Amino acid sequence: MLHGRWKYAFCLAWLIANSQLLRAEDGPRDPVLTLDFGDAKVAYKRSELLQRPDLEHIEVAADASYPGRKMSYQAVPAAKLFANQKISPQAVIQFQCLDGFSAPISKERLLNSDPRQSIAYIAIESPDAPWPGVKAGGPSAGPFYLVWPQPKLSQIGPEEWPFQLVGFSLRENLRQLYPAIFPVEPASAEVQQGFTSFTKNCFPCHTMNRQGAGEVGPDLNVPYGPTEYLNRRSLRRLIRNPQDLRYYAKSRMSAFPKSSLSDEELNHLIAYLAHMTKHKVATTAKHH
Ligand code: HEC
Repeated sequence: MLHGRWKYAFCLAWLIANSQLLRAEDGPRDPVLTLDFGDAKVAYKRSELLQRPDLEHIEVAADASYPGRKMSYQAVPAAKLFANQKISPQAVIQFQCLDGFSAPISKERLLNSDPRQSIAYIAIESPDAPWPGVKAGGPSAGPFYLVWPQPKLSQIGPEEWPFQLVGFSLRENLRQLYPAIFPVEPASAEVQQGFTSFTKNCFPCHTMNRQGAGEVGPDLNVPYGPTEYLNRRSLRRLIRNPQDLRYYAKSRMSAFPKSSLSDEELNHLIAYLAHMTKHKVATTAKHH
């Protein structure tokens, strides 16, 4: 029999592990994908999306969420959903997912319709033909999932396939949205490059100075940044493969092997993290 306290810890772990599943089961029968333009919102119901004249049947041979499987989807080109919107050159588009994963995504890539480059599609899971679990026994990538039939054309990375999408939001620019994540001048070219790499690779899950929409992992600067409490070797090891530093079966942090983050990029990233420890933004703790 489980001892009281362990029973509690076990239940909590179980709840966390299954919260997505529970949410998916409790979710509305006709889920919506929301495009938030700040002053206006457009909500697309699944049933409406599945009726659109621009719905296509697509095949995805190298699917980031279903490795080794050839997938086929009913999908709408992402650009079509944004077609009637004025989008300024500095505007930033962010995606949001059910589990709190959220990040800016290149709007040039998301809205591209030139067939010589990768084209993004919003795949829609039909209730009659559910997709397999992303992990065995877990929930699928649906109801909405951003896929790229030809990812190689624009070298689309694994973090550019957000699944269990809730929607997208558009803001004037990233600095307006999150001023405290930017390097503070004077900042070296390495720090600037590290910042770019941070927004692409880490910001989907971690906040910086408590700014950002990623709520999967801890803040990477306050109260302490990782360069303040981990030596460089341990930090590199953790980023390359978190399980290599501390084993944790339920870890949700991705590994960043050299194929997705070069040694040089890793150096820049660490330079940025170290730089930010000198520019902490004092914010009061959020109480829930
Ligand atoms: C898919 C989400 C995800 C991504 C992407 C991600 N992390 Fe994490 N990270 C986590 C989670 C969750 C934890 C908490 C421990 C765990 O689950 O492994 C964590 C833990 C950490 C820690 C340890 C914090 C501590 O004090 O224990 C550091 C440092 C870290 N991440 C840095 C990074 C950096 C740098 C990047 C980008 C290269 C990154 N992470 C990308 C989810 C993520």
